[in-house]
Amino acid sequence: MAAPSSPIDSEQALHTLDRELARGLEMVAAASTLADVEQAEAAILGRRSPFSEVQRALGDLSEESRRRVGQRTNEVRNQLREALSGRRTALEAEREASLLEADRIDVTLPGRRPRSGSLHPLTIVQYEIVDIFMRMGYRVVEGPEVEDEWHNFDALNIPPDHPARTLMDTIYLDVPGRPELLLRTHTSPMQIRTMEAGQPPVYVVVPGRVFRNEEVTAKNMPVFHQVEGLAVDEGITLADLKGTLETFLRALLGQDRRIRLIPSFFPFVEPGAQAEVSCFVCDGAGCKTCAGVGWLESGGAGMVHPAVLEAVGYDPERYTGFAFGMGYDRLAMIRFGIPDIRLLWESDMRFLEQFEGSAVTV
Ligand code: DAH
Repeated sequence: MAAPSSPIDSEQALHTLDRELARGLEMVAAASTLADVEQAEAAILGRRSPFSEVQRALGDLSEESRRRVGQRTNEVRNQLREALSGRRTALEAEREASLLEADRIDVTLPGRRPRSGSLHPLTIVQYEIVDIFMRMGYRVVEGPEVEDEWHNFDALNIPPDHPARTLMDTIYLDVPGRPELLLRTHTSPMQIRTMEAGQPPVYVVVPGRVFRNEEVTAKNMPVFHQVEGLAVDEGITLADLKGTLETFLRALLGQDRRIRLIPSFFPFVEPGAQAEVSCFVCDGAGCKTCAGVGWLESGGAGMVHPAVLEAVGYDPERYTGFAFGMGYDRLAMIRFGIPDIRLLWESDMRFLEQFEGSAVTV
C-alpha cells in the first residue's frame, strides 16, 4: 500500500509539473524505437512517476491551489500524451517504410514476353464458319481423308461411268487389294457417313481437307478446304436452304449481303444450285475481287436427291433435306488480302505471324 502523500505546497507542485513536462518532452524526442516510447510513457505518466505523485496529492491542497495545480496537471498530461502519440505515429510510419523498402521489387525492367502462337488464317475462317452453324443448332463432324468409291461417288448418285468422276481428277491410293481407296475429292461423302450412322433429324457441318490431282498455281492447290452442310428432317424445303445460306453468309460476311441461287447440276441434289453472295469488298458495285460482276461464287447446294436418301436407307417419301458445300481457301485469301494460295502452305513465319492479332482461345 502506498504511503499517504505528504502535504505539498502548490509552488513546488507547479515546479515539479514544469520539470516533468520538460523531461518528458526530451525523452519522447530521444525515443528511437516504439519500445523507447513505451518506456518514456511509464517513466513520465506511470503510477510511480513524479507527475502521478502530484496528481495524487491534489486532494491535500486548498481549493484554490487545487484548481490551479489541477488545471496545470491536465495541461501537462495532454501535452505529454500528444507528444507520445505523435512520436509513436512517426516511428510506426518509419517502420512501415523500411519494411516496404526491404520488400521492394524492381519492376522497371521490361518483362520477358512469352511467345504465343497464332491461328492459321484458314483455321480462323474455319472456326468462324463452324461457329455460326453451331449457333444455328448444327453439329460439327469430321471424316476420313482416305475414302472409298462408295462414299465419295456411288452413294452420292455418281455411278462409275458418270462424267463427274473423271471431272473430279481423283487421286487413287496404291494399296494392294484395295482399289476402291482414294483421297476424298470433296466433303460430301460425310453426308453419307452421317446418315448411315443414324436416323433423322440430321443437322451437321463438316469442315476438312479435300484432294484433287491438279497443278499448283497461285490460285490452285491439289489440297484445299471445304465445309459441307446437311440438313435432313420432315418437311424441309428449298426455302429452308435459301434462308439458311442467307443467314450464314450474312453472319460471316456482313448483314448487308444478298444471296442468289443460280440453277446448276450436281448428281446428289435435285434441284441443284450455285450459291452466290454479293461481293463483300465492293458490296456488289463491281471490283477486282469479284471480277467486276458484283457477285462471288460461294459454293454448290441443293435438295438432297431421293436416290441419296435411298442409298442410306432413309424413306424419301417421309424425309427431305438440303445440302451445301463450299470451299473456304479463297474466302480466307480475300478476307486477309493473301495474293497467292501457296502462302497458305509454306509455313513461312514472316507470313504466319501477321495473323497473331486474330488468335482466339479455344
Ligand atoms: N461436293 C461439291 C463439289 O465439291 C460441292 C457441293 C455441291 C456440295 C452441291 C453439296 C451440294 O453438298 O449440295 O464440287
